[in-house]
Amino acid sequence: MINRDEASKLMTEMIKNKNLQKHGIAVEAIMRALCHFLKKKHFDLPKEEFNEEEWAIVGLLHDGDYELIEKDPTKHTLVTEQKLRELGEVSERIIQGIKAHHDGIKDSRDNYLEKSVYAADELSGLITACALVRPDKKLSSVTVESVLKKFPQKSFAAGAKREQILACEKELNIPLEEFVKIALDAMQNISGELGL
Ligand SMILES: [Fe+2]
Repeated sequence: MINRDEASKLMTEMIKNKNLQKHGIAVEAIMRALCHFLKKKHFDLPKEEFNEEEWAIVGLLHDGDYELIEKDPTKHTLVTEQKLRELGEVSERIIQGIKAHHDGIKDSRDNYLEKSVYAADELSGLITACALVRPDKKLSSVTVESVLKKFPQKSFAAGAKREQILACEKELNIPLEEFVKIALDAMQNISGELGL
């Protein structure tokens, strides 16, 4: 079974763009935080639902094949799936989690891991954009309020799909403000690694 460090190695083999590598690391951090948060909230669910290593790997590798798909969105996540299967035994939850973040590949999100990566992916982009418009370009200057203020501004970080972020409320039952706080804290904790 692939572990986190092997997943990290695979990610840097597949992705050469440093910003895209950092995006994977940011989503990993958010996924770990969400795994903790949701595990506490849903203590009645089987513990397999909240295997932190799996959540981390899904975050790290969700965009793994982005540079390899020749801008063909119908291939996105499928190349990563193939690479993981070639590497040997891999958790089906990881494969399905990666596929679930991309609309059009897997249309239903069947568990908390899948719902989490779907929403976390886009929120990490919005938070990064919020940092980059601060005078010091630092995550430490970003607040929950500043992210919420940018949220309805459609022209700001237009690529960060707001509807997808709102899956936090519709699918995870986490209010947007709380979701932003969890993700911002997680990213601020690794700001050095993210260079922000
Ligand atoms: Fe992503």
